[in-house]
Amino acid sequence: MVTERKPLKRVLLKLSGEALKGKHAFGVDYEYVGHLADEILELTTTTNAELGIVIGGGNYIRGGQQGDIDRAVGDYMGMLGTMINSMALQAVFEAKGMQTRVVSALEIKEIAESYIRRRAIRHLEKKRIVIFACGTGNPFFTTDTAAALRGAEIGAEAILKGTNVDGVYSDDPRKNPDAKLYHTITFSEALERHLKVMDATALALCRENNTPIIVFNMNKPGNIRKAIEGQIIGTYVGGE
Ligand code: GTP
Repeated sequence: MVTERKPLKRVLLKLSGEALKGKHAFGVDYEYVGHLADEILELTTTTNAELGIVIGGGNYIRGGQQGDIDRAVGDYMGMLGTMINSMALQAVFEAKGMQTRVVSALEIKEIAESYIRRRAIRHLEKKRIVIFACGTGNPFFTTDTAAALRGAEIGAEAILKGTNVDGVYSDDPRKNPDAKLYHTITFSEALERHLKVMDATALALCRENNTPIIVFNMNKPGNIRKAIEGQIIGTYVGGE
């Protein structure tokens, strides 16, 4: 059994928008974001890690669940939700002294710079935390796919996917107490067994680019650091 992996230098952290609402029914729980920022500040000051972040928008809006509204319109509305979340992260992170850049897949130039791959990489090299807003900029794609895409583009060594449970299970652990936690699975197994790691497009993209995904519990402080240091946490989704 693997007991340790090599430490990671450049990672793409995928956060769920849903998590950002913390104890609120809707919007952003700044206490939660404050704790998250403390954790990231600690790890950026004590490790050499370069961090990109993709945040979802589920605390505001989910594209596919907007009644009779066209899916494409709903998805664009969701992308704007991710921009609100990105701005909230940036404001809280910078208040704690971190250097950040929000880069947007949609052109909203009064608010954020537009995404240019080489520029985003330069920001990372300068140890700025790069927050990728507005998903992929295209409807019919999820923010998980945005994480897989940006991860591949910036050469991330892994996608760190924060969730509310300890990793990937054989069944929903909140409904089935016998659900088994996988420590390691392959991309193909995750796809074939329809395990809810990420959607199929995101998984296929990670498989194609051989970008491992580490799925872990975001509610346990220190987990992001552990993943970056190569400690074994959650589920490692990797090559065959
Ligand atoms: P370096 O060139 O590496 O020094 O990066 P930099 O990001 O500091 O340079 P720049 O002078 O381009 O950016 C300064 C600030 O302006 C940063 O906070 C950027 O995020 C922001 N910025 C850059 N381009 C845009 C834009 O098109 N729109 C908005 N709203 N902000 C931008």
